[in-house]
Amino acid sequence: MAIVAMVSAKGSPGVTTTALACALSWQGRTVLAECDPSGGSILSGYLSRLEIPPIGLLPLAAAALRDQLAETFDHQLVDLDAKNPGQRFVLPGINDTVQAGTLRPTWESLTKFFGQLEHRDSGYDVIADCGRLATSAPPWPLLFRADLLLLVVRVTTLRTIAPAAGAAEMLRRELTQYGQGPGGLALALIGDGPYGRRDIEQRLQLPAVLELPDDRRTAEMLSDGGGRLRGSERLLRAAASTEPAVRDAITRRRAHLEPTTSSGSSRA
Ligand SMILES: Nc1ncnc2c1ncn2[C@@H]1O[C@H](COP(=O)(O)OP(=O)(O)OP(=O)(O)O)[C@@H](O)[C@H]1O
Ligand SMILES: [Mg+2]
Repeated sequence: MAIVAMVSAKGSPGVTTTALACALSWQGRTVLAECDPSGGSILSGYLSRLEIPPIGLLPLAAAALRDQLAETFDHQLVDLDAKNPGQRFVLPGINDTVQAGTLRPTWESLTKFFGQLEHRDSGYDVIADCGRLATSAPPWPLLFRADLLLLVVRVTTLRTIAPAAGAAEMLRRELTQYGQGPGGLALALIGDGPYGRRDIEQRLQLPAVLELPDDRRTAEMLSDGGGRLRGSERLLRAAASTEPAVRDAITRRRAHLEPTTSSGSSRA
């Protein structure tokens, strides 16, 4: 597995919480990269009890400009799991939207670098929280090159589902024009509501690869910090159970891209 990027149409359907739940429960070494141009929230939320120096995406972007990504990267990570260190990390995001402009020229090289991390000696999968598409500066290179791009949708009501239709259409168009095509685009459905998975897949014309339940208590611990996670919470168990489907989707996607990427003709 390489890069799984997550975005939302608008509102706060739970991108950060979902990305964190997956980073904490999937097997293997994982980096949760906070690439939301409107700012990261793990340091002020889930890890708010820790004093962490100003490291993360911004210094990494500066290193990208100096061509020093490889030697800088490890120093920008914060361990997410004190009980089992060295497995799950967060790359903290920016803390001011003004900094998004600094990131913009570096997304290409950051994306390329993230894509190579799985091939390191002790490789990482990258789960990228890319925030809302409605922001002025989504990290497009990352969305275009992700192995799997998940549009996160809260399924509680039609009001929360409807904005995803326009976003799905826009992503299909952009991925077709500039990326590797729309085949890596899928849905992450959050919560429960009157519409079933099939209804939503049909309405948005996308397959759902990931489904997480409404679990307010655990979600609050993940988004706001506090409490002690045991790993057996409904949300974390559900996140763990999504991993095989995510890996399958990536394997199928790569097999499909193989003949064209080897000639380099399908990349933007
Ligand atoms: N599966 C879930 N069950 C219940 N509540 C959830 C779930 N996922 C997220 N939430 C809650 O929804 C709210 C928004 O979550 P989160 O911050 O992850 O959304 P977001 O899409 O990242 O928002 P933003 O675009 O503002 O960064 C939080 O209060 C969080 O606790
Ligand atoms: Mg968020």
